Amino acid sequence: MSELKGRKLVLGVTGGVAAYKAAELVRLLGKAGADVHVVLTEGGARFVTAVTFQALSGNRVWTDLWDPRMDNNMAHIDLTRDADAILIAPATADVMAKLTHGLADDLLTTLCLARDCPLLVAPAMNRQMWEHPATKRNAAQLIADGVTLFGPAAGEQACGEVGLGRMLEPEALCEALIGFFQPRVLAGRRVVMTAGPTFEAIDPVRGITNSSSGKMAYGLARACVQAGAEVVLVSGPVSLPMPAGARRVSVRSALEMREAVFAALPGADVFIGVAAVADYRPAASAEHKIKKSGAELSITLTPNPDILADVAGLPNPPFCVGFAAESRNLDEYAEGKRKAKKLPLIVGNLVQDGLGGDDNLVVLYDDAGRHPLPKAAKPELARAIVAHLAGLLPKV
Ligand code: C5P
Repeated sequence: MSELKGRKLVLGVTGGVAAYKAAELVRLLGKAGADVHVVLTEGGARFVTAVTFQALSGNRVWTDLWDPRMDNNMAHIDLTRDADAILIAPATADVMAKLTHGLADDLLTTLCLARDCPLLVAPAMNRQMWEHPATKRNAAQLIADGVTLFGPAAGEQACGEVGLGRMLEPEALCEALIGFFQPRVLAGRRVVMTAGPTFEAIDPVRGITNSSSGKMAYGLARACVQAGAEVVLVSGPVSLPMPAGARRVSVRSALEMREAVFAALPGADVFIGVAAVADYRPAASAEHKIKKSGAELSITLTPNPDILADVAGLPNPPFCVGFAAESRNLDEYAEGKRKAKKLPLIVGNLVQDGLGGDDNLVVLYDDAGRHPLPKAAKPELARAIVAHLAGLLPKV
């Protein structure tokens, strides 16, 4: 994935134990395509050396305001001139206090004062330092000044105490950064989604299910969160990590899924049905495991409710989006489903292009016609779908 391709980031590393995690962060940001320039404070250099960051970022590491390597000796301006953001991770209580008051007594704080790009801060400190009224004041002031805070997280600390103050993990910081650069087209919107397959029990150990990796739904939930939405993901059984910031309601059967969807629906602006809901369920599920007898066994199946059609059929439905996975005649079948279920938007894809794969060929159908999306990896597809649906929502 190259979700930070073309982004130039200045990463400030200050003197906290979590500085060792900044090394992993540099690696992840680089893997996501970012061009990372590390500025190491004197305190930061006590934990991790400049050589480590240089090797991982492939760029010179800056430590000194008076570094003669900078052509015009204007490191405090040049380094952030074309940067997309400065991220300070870990950010100590001390650097937060300096930033709050506009102090500029080293390269990093001078850069922050002289910048015209966003400043993102990932606090990392002992829980008592974080809870101190001075730090609280500083954090509130930084937010009021337009600085974005990532974290801190709660958990075990280097000092052995447990509480709020841990730096977010490098993966979470990388996710937060990718999210930071996305347009907030769903800010203030509440989105309810279904995901994954459903599992319809035959007996306590057997059942009928559909093949669905859940990747598209989870990718879409992530894109909705990054676009600023509050997301509830009603998910059948899948083994995928939950997108940061979304709430999962785990279900198994179609009936459970329907119930959870209707419970989550009040106040929803958008409902997206991505789940591969089983069309049928056994009319009765045996209480005990059915024993093998050698004779033929018949299972009577009864149709499941169509969750999406039921939501779209409500008197004041949220904006409903469906998915149509077809193996042929995509236009005809997808548009037919859109009309039958009364959906303003349906996302069609040809299953021969890889159900469960990482790439998908997708066409959107709405009242204005068909809109093929360029072939892309799922995260980009998810963003394109979110951008399209956001454009169709009634204005608030
Ligand atoms: O009719 P079909 O199953 O092909 O429609 C697919 C769309 O309808 C998907 O958006 C799927 O999540 C939704 N659906 C549903 N409940 C069902 C069957 C499908 O919500 N029982």
